[in-house]
Amino acid sequence: MEKLSSSADPAPAFAVERLSVRFGGFQALRDVSWSVRSGQILSIIGPNGAGKSTCFLAATNMVAHDGRLFLQGADVTTLRAHRLPLRGLRRTFQQNAFFAGMTVIENMAGALLENRPSSLAGAVFLPWRERRRRRAILAEAARHLESYHVPAAWHHHFPGELSYGTQRMLSIALAASPGARVILLDEPAAGLGGEDMRALRALLLRLRAEGLAVVLIEHHMDLVMDIADEVVVIDLGAVIARGAPALVQADARVRDAYLGRAA
Ligand SMILES: Nc1ncnc2c1ncn2[C@@H]1O[C@H](COP(=O)(O)OP(=O)(O)OP(=O)(O)O)[C@@H](O)[C@H]1O
Ligand SMILES: [Mg+2]
Repeated sequence: MEKLSSSADPAPAFAVERLSVRFGGFQALRDVSWSVRSGQILSIIGPNGAGKSTCFLAATNMVAHDGRLFLQGADVTTLRAHRLPLRGLRRTFQQNAFFAGMTVIENMAGALLENRPSSLAGAVFLPWRERRRRRAILAEAARHLESYHVPAAWHHHFPGELSYGTQRMLSIALAASPGARVILLDEPAAGLGGEDMRALRALLLRLRAEGLAVVLIEHHMDLVMDIADEVVVIDLGAVIARGAPALVQADARVRDAYLGRAA
């Protein structure tokens, strides 16, 4: 495996610079910058309404913004939102987002195909080859799902039939399909109980170990303090602190803005 160290790694896997977003007259985000390296978990925390999800919307070009985006060192500020996943930037949503009318395995196969464009010619002229390809994709989707804790028994159900915890896993499995380099997760632990939380923690550590750059919006402070390499704190649309989890936890402004209130 490629050897990575912060000094030898020239560019962060993903960096946002001075992101600002306005919703009408309301400034939801002001000059927010952060970056994340491969094999690192960066956590974004802050009170409800601070601008965390808006930050992901801007970082994936899903909302108009000022500021710039750099993916593996390349300026992707003007790239259309739907092109970013192909370049390795993936995200999950605070509310799970699936194709409700497709089964779990069809959702997964769709994500695999979407992120691996190939010639349509074979499909048009050689249907038997297409059938073989379809079988191969479905088998790959099944393996991928199981490795992300979505059991085979659920693969032919619709996403809405899964337990909430398994839906969370499915959304991560979809985002982490091959080609992912940077993964933005918006409150993956929300609503999860003990066992699902442990599975999620293990999964996040695995993504990091596999060399992904993980950006984690989360309210569960125990999880953040346990696994984040770095924490960025947003309050009222601006960054008020950043650093190692223990340092941020001890910061008086952070306690005031968030941790104190949340306790
Ligand atoms: N489309 C929109 N139009 C107008 N205001 C919006 C829009 N989306 C978000 N906002 C406002 O922007 C602010 C930031 O919202 P955002 O969803 O980013 O907060 P958040 O930090 O993710 O909060 P939470 O922890 O509750 O998820 C809030 O005041 C919200 O009401
Ligand atoms: Mg949010």
